[in-house]
Amino acid sequence: MTALLELHGITKTLKGQRTPRTILDGVDLTVESGESVAILGRSGSGKSTLLSLIGLFDRPDGGRYLLGGQDITRLSERRAAALRSAEFGFVFQRFFLLKHLTAAQNVAMALVNGQGWLPRRKRRARTMAALDQVGIAHLAKHRPARLSGGEQQRVAVARALVREPRLLLADEPTGALDTETGNLVIEVMRSATERGCGLILVTHDRDHANKMRRVLRLDDGVLNPATTTPDEAWTPHSAGMQAAPSGAGPTPESAAGVSAPDGADPTREGVPR
Ligand SMILES: Nc1ncnc2c1ncn2[C@@H]1O[C@H](COP(=O)(O)OP(=O)(O)OP(=O)(O)O)[C@@H](O)[C@H]1O
Ligand SMILES: [Mg+2]
Repeated sequence: MTALLELHGITKTLKGQRTPRTILDGVDLTVESGESVAILGRSGSGKSTLLSLIGLFDRPDGGRYLLGGQDITRLSERRAAALRSAEFGFVFQRFFLLKHLTAAQNVAMALVNGQGWLPRRKRRARTMAALDQVGIAHLAKHRPARLSGGEQQRVAVARALVREPRLLLADEPTGALDTETGNLVIEVMRSATERGCGLILVTHDRDHANKMRRVLRLDDGVLNPATTTPDEAWTPHSAGMQAAPSGAGPTPESAAGVSAPDGADPTREGVPR
């Protein structure tokens, strides 16, 4: 069977600094449909950089990237944007909901710029099904200010799932949540894999990682199966170093996958440019 995603020898070196720095140094990864994979690694090890490449916000310097057996290593920006909104769902630490829209409208936003036009009734049905899937259909008319953090993140997960993506990419989706709501959000995403969606979860939380089928660690630019020694106790977020918004930061639109081809890359949240 063709794998959902295959990365072979992916490399990424940051230039533009006095000395170029290799962040990814030959990453190999295969993810099957319906498979869940956790990626652990110390802060700055390149996890968000890797997700950014997988989500087609950026390109590798070397290696090969296959999606459903098709080589997509070098796509035009326009094709990358189209593929991004058709195939991927994104969930981030910050929820990136539009404050003036209801939960349902935030989710429906992901259907607006998607592939093809959906009649209003279908759009509404899919939106409600997605909200139902994450257990908050009854909150459809609430604006974010009236939702708890966990509920807001579930809206963000519904928005990521509403286009029925082949692959869900989550970058520290529970970083801003308490343990209980974090567990709930992880379970909601994991259950999406039962319907065939692949899931790549970047996390500092070993317990969440252990709920995925495979646990990997990014170290020295390569992915390896994680050992059982947890060393994720310190996170920049637990230390109060919440991402500082930068000029070219993510937006609700780019998080919803409806940004213009050159839209901000939400996976680059908090990374100094
Ligand atoms: N556009 C960029 N400009 C400058 N440095 C960058 C850029 N992108 C990534 N980096 C650097 O690359 C390294 C990897 O960053 P990345 O955000 O991928 O780490 P991470 O594993 O996600 O860390 P964390 O767990 O803190 O989120 C960091 O040292 C970061 O500062
Ligand atoms: Mg990161």
